[in-house]
Amino acid sequence: MVSETKAKVVYRELLKVDLVVLRLVPENGMPKFQTGQFLTIGVPIPAEKKIVRRAYSIASHAENKDYFEFVIRWVRKPLPGRVTTELFYASVGDEVFLGDPTGNALQISDTLPNGQKDNRRVICVGGGTGLAPFIAFAKHFHDTNDKREVVILHGASYVDELSYKRLLTDLELESEKVGRDKWNFRYRAAISRPKEYFNRSWNGHTGRVESFFKPDKKTGMSPVEEMVGEEITPDNSIIYICGYQGTIDGVIDSLESKGFVTEHEKKDDGSFGIKFESYG
Ligand SMILES: Cc1cc2nc3c(=O)[nH]c(=O)nc-3n(C[C@H](O)[C@H](O)[C@H](O)COP(=O)(O)OP(=O)(O)OC[C@H]3O[C@@H](n4cnc5c(N)ncnc54)[C@H](O)[C@@H]3O)c2cc1C
Ligand SMILES: NC(=O)c1ccc[n+]([C@@H]2O[C@H](COP(=O)([O-])OP(=O)(O)OC[C@H]3O[C@@H](n4cnc5c(N)ncnc54)[C@H](OP(=O)(O)O)[C@@H]3O)[C@@H](O)[C@H]2O)c1
Repeated sequence: MVSETKAKVVYRELLKVDLVVLRLVPENGMPKFQTGQFLTIGVPIPAEKKIVRRAYSIASHAENKDYFEFVIRWVRKPLPGRVTTELFYASVGDEVFLGDPTGNALQISDTLPNGQKDNRRVICVGGGTGLAPFIAFAKHFHDTNDKREVVILHGASYVDELSYKRLLTDLELESEKVGRDKWNFRYRAAISRPKEYFNRSWNGHTGRVESFFKPDKKTGMSPVEEMVGEEITPDNSIIYICGYQGTIDGVIDSLESKGFVTEHEKKDDGSFGIKFESYG
């Protein structure tokens, strides 16, 4: 039996023709959930005479008791996606159905297997809308005054798909202003189609987001290691990835030789350095 509740659209921000930020408020109040989880949004599809449900990562954090936020791509090819087409026609005030928050693939690791606090650097890798859970991470770490170093890497095809660029840039500027001993945050984006005219002004990192982990042939350091100023190891960093399987595989390929294993393939002592959620 699917447990779900009605929810109202309270905010809608079209970022581009096929990318939208939605905020939803459940009719019975906000349920408890964990930062990094996802839930299903259901919409009635008249032609099918039923409610169709799809999973969406929650982009807001557990401390936000006002609404759920989502960033959603309208799937248009080869045929318009059923749920995303309905969501793109939804207006403020419209109702949808929400399932219970679920999933622990991107649950934040706060404790090591030996019981000590997990103080490792947190590196988040989001491909496209796979950034969503890491927006929740960033706000959670910020609002709970967490002192861990947090790095967010976002990959997109086009510069206008860097959906939370302003928020993430502001969080990094705050770090520089207040001091990294108080709030230690970095954000970098990668544009994978740099030669396209629309991206002509981009002067940041180019390539798919997993290329942040590829070591430079001369120095042996990857761009993310250059940024944090040291080699990343499973002892000093934990990596969270959300996106295409190709993104996940690409990051894992670069990190395996450093001794990183995923949560699914923990070491004998229960330790791991990679957690991920695939687009499926
Ligand atoms: C854990 C998880 C979290 C997710 N989080 C997000 C998120 O934060 N944001 C987000 O945008 N998405 C997210 N997704 C993806 C989301 O769940 C949906 O898969 C996506 O939005 C497409 O749903 P849809 O109903 O619009 O498309 P569907 O109708 O399911 O279509 C899916 C694909 O099949 C094609 N298709 C449909 N019908 C046909 C047909 N008859 N013949 C050939 N092809 C066809 C469509 O063109 C499309 O490419 C997440 C998925 C998972 C598993
Ligand atoms: N958690 C989830 O399951 C989840 C979350 C969000 C979205 N989705 C679904 O995933 C689909 C696309 O999502 P999106 O719009 O966010 O992504 P997108 O904007 O199409 O792509 C984001 C980035 O991923 C790269 N990419 C494309 N194909 C790849 C591959 N096979 N391997 C590695 N990288 C790849 C793109 O590079 P190029 O420029 O080279 O193409 C781009 O840099 C949508 O259907 C969406 O509904 C699922």
